[in-house]
Amino acid sequence: MKFICNDARNPDANELPLWLSVNESVKALNFQKSMSGYAVTPLIALNRLAEAVGVAGIAVKDESYRLGLNAFKGLGVTYALGNVICGKLGIIIEDTTFDYLKSAEVRHKLGDLTFTTATDGNHGRAVAWVARQFGQKAVVYLPKGSAARRVEAIRETGAQAIVTEFNYDDTVQLAKEKAAENGWEIVQDTAWDGYTRIPQWIMQGYTTILGEVGEQIRHMEMPEPTHIVLQAGVGGMAGALLGYWANLYEGKHPVTLIVEPDNAACIFHSASVGDREPHQVYGSLETIMAGLACGEPNPIAWSILRDFADAYVSCPDYVAARGMRMLASPLEGDQRVISGESGAVGIGLLSLLMSEPEFSGIRSKLKLDQDSVVLFINTEGDTDPVLYRQIVWDGKYPMPQR
Ligand SMILES: Cc1ncc(COP(=O)(O)O)c(C=O)c1O
Repeated sequence: MKFICNDARNPDANELPLWLSVNESVKALNFQKSMSGYAVTPLIALNRLAEAVGVAGIAVKDESYRLGLNAFKGLGVTYALGNVICGKLGIIIEDTTFDYLKSAEVRHKLGDLTFTTATDGNHGRAVAWVARQFGQKAVVYLPKGSAARRVEAIRETGAQAIVTEFNYDDTVQLAKEKAAENGWEIVQDTAWDGYTRIPQWIMQGYTTILGEVGEQIRHMEMPEPTHIVLQAGVGGMAGALLGYWANLYEGKHPVTLIVEPDNAACIFHSASVGDREPHQVYGSLETIMAGLACGEPNPIAWSILRDFADAYVSCPDYVAARGMRMLASPLEGDQRVISGESGAVGIGLLSLLMSEPEFSGIRSKLKLDQDSVVLFINTEGDTDPVLYRQIVWDGKYPMPQR
């Protein structure tokens, strides 16, 4: 595992991303609450695991329960597509509900639309699902080697799912070209020059996760987190949550670690270059953490991760596999959490960070000790059930022998 600490984090100097303010988050939450399928996802305290690892508390926000989609991604897409449709109707999202946007009246006004996107699976499944709710079509492009179950899950919603010959970043390019050629609306969870509004809505939609966590901590009388571990693909989810917290705590938020797979560590790489710009990593981006297999940072997320994160971590695949096994076989008294490759990497990371002597310097720099309460977001369940069982049952991707 490789670490970079962000010595430049300065709560007073960095400008807050006001578009991720608590008010903006409440707007997204109100719209999401107007969906009949909306329900708060569980926040699970793993007290025995915390004792075993050597911290005061571990809390896992389990997004595998979100909207029946086995991942958090529906939060972003509902809010983004809701806004897109409102724009076409000339209304604002605060004045409407998800159910109205699904109605035959709106469907008639809009005519036929096609939404398209590129995805590792979870975002595309959410686009397909929301498009269907609105009675519209979706065409979803996936990178080569995408797991069969993730492709099927998209097709089951009636969308077209096309597995390309490309990695994730090149698949995004293809989706852009197809959208321009066919007059389709692209709904991408990353931004580029001239394309920021939809990715901003997507990120605003994700902030519901921490809005709910705040309420749950109060109701369950849990201790406030001192640390959060956020996994990054293009960095949208991590940037959204960190941006929300930066606003809420005015930059004096809990210690934040951003974690990525070794072969797709574009946020880590950008931090290591250190010129304040986002930098792409190239290659096949091969990793079991399919949701994190992205080579090009989301630029609107990167600036938040650059200014407000405390550390960037790059991990081998066995760290995620260890996290999956730890969550699947809980200590007595703790609850089981079904967590996929991209969901579990943070827990694997914490366990190694707390136990390996070589990380003692990082631990003390990040103030990770017996008083720490660490929050994790389980961003997906077993979205690739075949690989899930190979890892959890058969021990695939074991820890290297020391
Ligand atoms: C399960 C899961 N976790 C985390 C992420 C990372 O999100 P982002 O690409 O916004 O960084 C993704 C992205 O697809 C994902 O599917």
